[in-house]
Amino acid sequence: MVTFDFTEKNFVVVGASSGIGRQVTLELSNGGANVLAIGRNLERLNELKTNSPVSLVKRPPKIFTEQLDVLTATPDDWAQVLGNFTGAVGRINGGLYSAGIWGLTPLHSFDTLLARKIFDTSFWGAVNFLQAATRKKFSDGGGSFVLMSSTAGDFAGKGLFAYSAAKAAIQSAVKSFAKEIIRGKHRINSVAPAPVKTEMMSGDYAASVGEQTASRQLLGPGTARDVAGMILFLLSERAAWITGQNFFVDGGYIVGSYT
Ligand SMILES: NC(=O)c1ccc[n+]([C@@H]2O[C@H](COP(=O)([O-])OP(=O)(O)OC[C@H]3O[C@@H](n4cnc5c(N)ncnc54)[C@H](OP(=O)(O)O)[C@@H]3O)[C@@H](O)[C@H]2O)c1
Repeated sequence: MVTFDFTEKNFVVVGASSGIGRQVTLELSNGGANVLAIGRNLERLNELKTNSPVSLVKRPPKIFTEQLDVLTATPDDWAQVLGNFTGAVGRINGGLYSAGIWGLTPLHSFDTLLARKIFDTSFWGAVNFLQAATRKKFSDGGGSFVLMSSTAGDFAGKGLFAYSAAKAAIQSAVKSFAKEIIRGKHRINSVAPAPVKTEMMSGDYAASVGEQTASRQLLGPGTARDVAGMILFLLSERAAWITGQNFFVDGGYIVGSYT
């Protein structure tokens, strides 16, 4: 199903092997884009290639895959994977950074290593990706980038300081990045979903948080597809006048939380 026209565009999705990143990868591809799908699980990334979009154009879009751990990737690693992709299809028109992990980090008993991993996966990985991807040799002017925040960035949950702080940091950094990358005519925004059912939210505690949240969502529980719509819009040319913003996609969770 084509939701936006991305014919002959090239996008990168980091965290494409599951959940929201996977959904966006498939919809970009179905919309006509070549997509570089990045993650650690190569088997799941390669499954994306079995998606065969119905294409009326001569050169059907392709999904490329690269295995990369954002926690250990060096600037050279980023340059290598982006270079492989742009060498094959040309410069990119933007990307989604969707890598993230969730975990409890109560103040008096948190695991420092886990807390750092949570923060680094959501925040520093995004910074490193954006730094590489917005270089002139990889990005055409006028690219659109989306980073994943969360409602947790504004309405931090108990015992979730690392995750919530990372997601608040994303919203703040986006406002600063917007002013810098406009030099290359690029745009950047963040999307902040309320919990939706994905692998990240499938553990017992995460699932119970999801259920509690869903009880306050005016529109009921959401899915990765419900979040993907906003991301695809922001990546598309229809959002050409939008940058430096954060967009909640929450099924009415925030307004539903207050009487
Ligand atoms: N689901 C929600 O309720 C929700 C709500 C608000 C915000 N978000 C945010 O939305 C984004 C996507 O979440 P999701 O729900 O789609 O989660 P998901 O289904 O668990 O997907 C997370 C993705 O991140 C990748 N990833 C994790 N660690 C990585 C690493 N070190 N290096 C490279 N890739 C890594 C995973 O790929 P591999 O395992 O293959 O590496 C996977 O593709 C996250 O930033 C999350 O915080 C989600």
